[in-house]
Amino acid sequence: MRIALVLIMLLATSTVIRSFRHTLLVHRPIFHHATTPPGRLFLSDPNSGDSAPKPAAAWNLKILKNKITNKIIRTHKKIGKGGPNLDTHMSTLQALTTLESLLSSPSSDVDAIVSAALSLDLDDLPSNPQPRGPKKMKGPKAQSKSRKPFRTYTFENITILVGKKAEDNDILSVGEARGEPNEVWLHASGYAGSHVVIKCDFDETPRPVLNAGALLAAKYSKNQSNRAKVNYTRCRNVSKPIGAKPGLVKLGGDVGVIEVDLKIGEGFLEELEEAVKIN
Ligand SMILES: *[C@@H]1O[C@H](CO)[C@@H](O)[C@H](O)[C@H]1NC(C)=O
Ligand SMILES: *[C@@H]1O[C@H](CO)[C@@H](O)[C@H](O)[C@H]1NC(C)=O
Ligand SMILES: *[C@@H]1O[C@H](CO)[C@@H](O)[C@H](O)[C@H]1NC(C)=O
Ligand SMILES: *[C@@H]1O[C@H](CO)[C@@H](O)[C@H](O)[C@H]1NC(C)=O
Repeated sequence: MRIALVLIMLLATSTVIRSFRHTLLVHRPIFHHATTPPGRLFLSDPNSGDSAPKPAAAWNLKILKNKITNKIIRTHKKIGKGGPNLDTHMSTLQALTTLESLLSSPSSDVDAIVSAALSLDLDDLPSNPQPRGPKKMKGPKAQSKSRKPFRTYTFENITILVGKKAEDNDILSVGEARGEPNEVWLHASGYAGSHVVIKCDFDETPRPVLNAGALLAAKYSKNQSNRAKVNYTRCRNVSKPIGAKPGLVKLGGDVGVIEVDLKIGEGFLEELEEAVKIN
């Protein structure tokens, strides 16, 4: 029985493996679908994006007013803390109070209000839900904006999960989102990087699916050279040594190695990124 430790996210780039004798290069697979699902699902608010600027008359002044009040409070706090930017904060506060009185005066010109707001980096878009404090779920939109510990890709109808940080890797590898025993776990060999789980428990993982997972593991690793080796095993053989730091796991069982070439796999990776379900 062979057991080895894989250090993730914490590891200095210590191991450099120079042997490429068993090179398995990735070939771009043939896609069966003419259309890939539409791009990323959680883009920014349509009002804030590429569209033409909204006319001043269409601004939601009520939201703007709340934002001004909040910014005044935040600026007061910054001034209270002192520091090198005190002068900037003071003049921001001045501009904010001027804007506030402009807004509450019925004779004010909306164009002037809006241009002052824009110069203070204010908008009239509803705020994002605050990450701190008690959670308020306001339906699917609020939910979808909450941070996910991993990216969710799909390839050939098979889901591939990619952890974002060391703590997320633990959730994916040994925590609440851990894979089923027979699913596939991957990680760039010898380098800090994301843990990847392919939600596929076939006895034999289809090669293009394995390639997709390996490319993602290589891309989201610290080894930024074109070629990278990726270790893979079944999820059941990934465990956490007692007291180990976040992202540190132990592999047992058969550990395979797949070598990918990020240059050759570039187009394939792009397609995977375009079809990402949850980023
Ligand atoms: C991962 O792959 C490398 C080759 O790149 C190999 O030397 C190492 O033993 C593998 N890791 C484990 C835990 O088997
Ligand atoms: C993926 O799933 C859809 C809907 O279930 C099906 O129509 C399609 O053929 C599947 N594609 C592959 C490659 O398995
Ligand atoms: C990381 O990159 C180097 C080249 O800089 C390469 O020789 C090595 O095989 C890569 N390491 C892994 C684990 O893939
Ligand atoms: C792999 O996991 C299975 C199931 O948990 C276990 O029986 C087996 O001993 C593991 N292999 C190694 C080498 O740890």
